[in-house]
Amino acid sequence: MADAFESNWVAPLGPHVEAFERELADQCRVAACTALSSGTAAVHLALLLTGVGPGDEVLCSTLTFAASVNPVCYLGGTPVLVDCDAATWNVDPALLEAELESRARAGRLPKAVVAVDLYGQCADLKPIEAMCERFEVVLIEDAAEALGATAYGRPAGSFGRFGVLSFNGNKIVTTGGGGALVSNDVAAIARARFFATQARDPAPHYQHSEIGFNYRLSNILAAIGRGQLSTLGRRVAARRANFDRYVAGLGDLPGIGFMPEASYGVSTRWLTTITIDPDSFGATREEVRLALEAGNIEARPLWKPMHLQPVFTGCRVVGGKVSEHLFDRGLCLPSGSALTPTQHDRVVEIVRGMHRT
Ligand SMILES: Cc1ncc(COP(=O)(O)O)c(C=O)c1O
Repeated sequence: MADAFESNWVAPLGPHVEAFERELADQCRVAACTALSSGTAAVHLALLLTGVGPGDEVLCSTLTFAASVNPVCYLGGTPVLVDCDAATWNVDPALLEAELESRARAGRLPKAVVAVDLYGQCADLKPIEAMCERFEVVLIEDAAEALGATAYGRPAGSFGRFGVLSFNGNKIVTTGGGGALVSNDVAAIARARFFATQARDPAPHYQHSEIGFNYRLSNILAAIGRGQLSTLGRRVAARRANFDRYVAGLGDLPGIGFMPEASYGVSTRWLTTITIDPDSFGATREEVRLALEAGNIEARPLWKPMHLQPVFTGCRVVGGKVSEHLFDRGLCLPSGSALTPTQHDRVVEIVRGMHRT
């Protein structure tokens, strides 16, 4: 950051943006990257470059943040929301495959699949990638929550045609606000960069032949991102240590469950997420959340599934019960990389205090 100021590269773009892009591409083991103003912008550009337009359908995980789905609507497309698998909390590959098969038979394949890596854990991306190839449907991996995770020995962001990253305020690497689009398709990334820079044609004056967006990351924010990316391994270790400490502190309580870690990969445990069965624990998820809030500790329910969101009423949903059940019982606990043992113990103490026999 000091370098960005001293060299007076405070404008958009600059040497730290280029270096950040290279380092992110290396981290994701892909050929190219463009740094952007948000993960939402990355989803938007991925869908735009896929050719999603009015009337097109896009299959997407229902248990996610709205930013995975909203950009489908920016382009006039229609989301189709697919339930998750209780074993991974990520999109259920069997449901996805059945939906693709029935759509192939009906001649109504979607334009794309957006597979989300939830709370630091990759979706079951190998079979999902294979089925998307088989049906010739573009796969976009929304790895906004999973930088640093792996699946089948490959880094989050490396599956499908495009990977989406976010550096929003709560992410494991944060620039305050920011994101990136990664891909092995170098030409597609160059095109994304063009759209992100107001679709400015190569000319000495300002000339535009297409509609663009102001989606690029600034040099200063890229410098912040670079500093943090260089410590990603430590950050992942800290998040995983948070998880282990919560398991040690709460794992013996009846009715408390933890997000399972899938055998195909390593989760960053970006957020430690628990489920609370009110019958055996003696209090509901909401009662526990309010007890934490009374102690000035913020904890949030899991993502409310997109098919339960008023704005997506009317969208087709495939399954839905698994994510509804998780939303009903799930709670994200404080999980920052800098959480201290004392802070941690306070959370554990309050949750334990809610247990009734
Ligand atoms: C799964 C998922 N996708 C996309 C985004 C959007 O990222 P951003 O906030 O950088 O726009 C987020 C989080 O913010 C997210 O959790």
